[in-house]
Amino acid sequence: MKLIDGKKISEKVLDEIKFSVQNRVKNNLKIPHLAAILVGDDGASKTYVNSKIKACEKVGFKSSLFKFDDSISEIELLNQIKNINENDDIDGFIVQLPLPKHINQEVILNKVSPAKDVDGFHPNNYGKMTLGIDTFIPATPAGIIELIERSEIQTEGKKCLVIGRSQIVGRPISILLSQNKSFGNSTVTVAHSRSKDLEKLCLDSDIIISAIGIPEFIKGNMIKKGSSIIDVGITRVDDLSSPKGYKIVGDVDFKSVSNTVGYITPVPGGVGPMTISMLLKNTLKACEISD
Ligand code: GUN
Repeated sequence: MKLIDGKKISEKVLDEIKFSVQNRVKNNLKIPHLAAILVGDDGASKTYVNSKIKACEKVGFKSSLFKFDDSISEIELLNQIKNINENDDIDGFIVQLPLPKHINQEVILNKVSPAKDVDGFHPNNYGKMTLGIDTFIPATPAGIIELIERSEIQTEGKKCLVIGRSQIVGRPISILLSQNKSFGNSTVTVAHSRSKDLEKLCLDSDIIISAIGIPEFIKGNMIKKGSSIIDVGITRVDDLSSPKGYKIVGDVDFKSVSNTVGYITPVPGGVGPMTISMLLKNTLKACEISD
């Protein structure tokens, strides 16, 4: 078993970004500025946004947090987005999801200027990604690419199973794995809640990207010897021995696969930390494009 250390790789990416920022400062270029919109009081969303802001400080970015009560109307939120779109000092911004039920996510994400859409969720950017045109790749799939490439795992000609078809993870990574590029050229199967014989699909795969959200679902007897697993699952399960009262568990039964698996990402410390560094990489890209 070879562990893919997402924390370490993410630190390396952040160091590279920091180096770029220092060079920009030396050359009197603009300091990248990321903004985040947070609506409501969801604990997990608050934690994510705070981690993003902290990472900005670490690499020398400017950051702004726009917090709104969950009673904000869709029109008011659209107004706020318009203001950020027009604010030349802000290079990129995200609207932290999920949004309250009375706000239409699709309408909101459509209003984010594609040039500042560092989440890569705007249909223009999503469409470009699908067509293989350079754009902002959403942070989680971008992080998975970085982990696979930096671990020198070849994707060409490999059988890849993507479990999950979400807009944020499964759908984009399945498209990217099949593209005709150095990262890509895989034979991709997308499994989801209606798929049959998931065990058989797993056993037949060289690379499994799992974003199913069922804790410890993938067991050792379900995988091929030497296969690689990227575990995107993050489920909170009760753990009375932990001070927080819960622990974070991935889709893979780590112990059970340890004698069979080739490369594997741990949870926590695998894909999770990468999502933040990739968001910052997209923000740097947005800033560089606007130079
Ligand atoms: N909520 C969960 N993941 C994400 C993400 O990648 N971006 C945003 N904006 N919200 C999220």
